[in-house]
Amino acid sequence: FSSMSNRRPKVYVTRRVPPDGLEILRPHCEITQWDSEKPVPRAELIRQIAGKDALFCLLTDKIDGEVLNAAGPQLKCIGTMSVGYDHIDMTECRERNIPVGFTPDVLTNATAELTVGLLLATSRRLIEASQSVREGGWGTWDPCWMLGHGLDGSTVGVVGLGRIGMAVARRLAPFGVKRFLYSGHSPKNEANEIGAEFVDFDDLLSNSDFVLGCCALTKENQGLFDKDAFSKMKSNAIFVNTSRGGLVNQTDLYQALVNHQIAAAGLDVTSPEPLPTDSPLLTLKNCVILPHIGSATEMARGAMSALTGRNILSFLRGEEMPCRIK
Ligand code: DGY
Repeated sequence: FSSMSNRRPKVYVTRRVPPDGLEILRPHCEITQWDSEKPVPRAELIRQIAGKDALFCLLTDKIDGEVLNAAGPQLKCIGTMSVGYDHIDMTECRERNIPVGFTPDVLTNATAELTVGLLLATSRRLIEASQSVREGGWGTWDPCWMLGHGLDGSTVGVVGLGRIGMAVARRLAPFGVKRFLYSGHSPKNEANEIGAEFVDFDDLLSNSDFVLGCCALTKENQGLFDKDAFSKMKSNAIFVNTSRGGLVNQTDLYQALVNHQIAAAGLDVTSPEPLPTDSPLLTLKNCVILPHIGSATEMARGAMSALTGRNILSFLRGEEMPCRIK
């Protein structure tokens, strides 16, 4: 901490988090923490960040110009305990020369696994079937009852074949998927490993039996899955989103599901979060909704916390962050 005289840098942590990251920071930094399972109220964040050298935040904290101004010019870096960073105004951070660390890779396997689980729960109607057993709806074995859609021989379309999209595709291949399609900015070399074909978004929609939202949320792809997109999908299509709720126009999704324009949807992410309990989507049997638990394993969350701690500490020490947003 040569440039920081003798004082220990001050770090503000916006939530109760797995201890791994705090253990990394504590010997070297003075930590102030919003020690709660609920997000820090914005006014409190703005009050507490004043005078801090670093911010350890989560995807539930909106980090914009107002927060950065409240911090003051001594704020040196930000570490978000997430791979997604749509909650951070990167333009404002760049203008102030504040690097932002994030947590790619360490949550890829956990999130890919959850995506596969959600896909199967949706396509094979697991929640609906289990519920019917509890409700006495299980009459007898019925050859025409609770039929779903299998992966064997199917075409899977991955929107955004990045780290997580690729990990999902690798896990789905052994189920007998016939074709993988993907869309995005540009073709990817890794796609060859699973023989995935780079296609435009519309082709992906019209040819896929499973459409998976695996891309990061940006200003450009807000509401990408809208009425128009759902109208291009096959009537047997299963739509799964484990990325960000902002990719989906939920009113349009509701219409597509209620009119059986597509078969079903599995969402681990919604907009807003939490999804209000009176959301029309929750009235649908062909919609499985999970509370944003993609990375929720002990191992992934511990590693995310640790990497956030390392990102912050490295930068404060004048070293490269292990994982810095470009
Ligand atoms: C992320 O990291 O961006 C996920 O949404 C939560 O793990």
